[in-house]
Amino acid sequence: MYARVYDNVMLCFLPYHQLLYTVTEKLNPQAGWHVLDAGCGTGNFLHHLLHYRPGVTAVGIDYADAMLHRAAVKINNNKDVGKDVVLQETNLNYSIPFKEEEFQGVICVNVLYAVDNPVFLLKELSRVLQRGGRLVLVTPPFQPRIGPVFREHVLLLKERKPFLWPFSLAGRILCLAPWLFIFLILNIFIKKQQSFHFFKREELLSLVKNCGFELVSLEKVYGGQDWFLEAVKPAAKVETVESVYSPEGGVACLR
Ligand SMILES: C[S@@+](CC[C@H](N)C(=O)[O-])C[C@H]1O[C@@H](n2cnc3c(N)ncnc32)[C@H](O)[C@@H]1O
Repeated sequence: MYARVYDNVMLCFLPYHQLLYTVTEKLNPQAGWHVLDAGCGTGNFLHHLLHYRPGVTAVGIDYADAMLHRAAVKINNNKDVGKDVVLQETNLNYSIPFKEEEFQGVICVNVLYAVDNPVFLLKELSRVLQRGGRLVLVTPPFQPRIGPVFREHVLLLKERKPFLWPFSLAGRILCLAPWLFIFLILNIFIKKQQSFHFFKREELLSLVKNCGFELVSLEKVYGGQDWFLEAVKPAAKVETVESVYSPEGGVACLR
């Protein structure tokens, strides 16, 4: 059900479209790069990335076959993109089935908060990323709310359609309302089933550093509902002996 409503809701929001552009731009993959999308969902980021960056190949992994099925339909419908993507059912709570340093770029958008152990996942992403490779990580700082995203949507709409925006907004609300209602109910249900990990700025910085990455930039996007983090895996090994966020709560020491 979540897979069925996901695109109907997310693709209605201009901030989500903006996020698609920003992820591609900041990852900035070059022809010949092999990119991993960890938790690719319905494949929106893969589709965007490969459409705008020909010559890039990618693997999308997710544990929900209903999401992957939608990703496959989207990607296979686009001949330019389809041949360059492999989709694979994989649970990110376990070791991911790729060799050391297999990828030049990794993206992970709104997934880290939902896995059992964010430290484990980030270390896996670091393992499969080449030295000098780039990570783009997007994750919410707190339980995301729809209100600020909606406000940002209206601001972007006013910029794009200075005169027609009220009509465009009214039409969008009418189409979106039933899907959004189901989506919000599903989110409440999911929240009750699962515990999530939300990071403050300092926690996220220390987490990423201690999992072997060097920070490039960290900012809030998506109406303030997401951290947008760019990092690289440094050419030389970095020390990983420091306090980091632990999923059990508090701070753990990785030695
Ligand atoms: C909010 S969606 C984000 C999807 C996509 N990255 C996007 O931004 O459109 C979260 C995705 O993470 C996947 N996911 C959550 N926990 C996972 C896990 N342990 N292993 C693999 N995928 C997982 C879900 O199936 C879902 O597709």
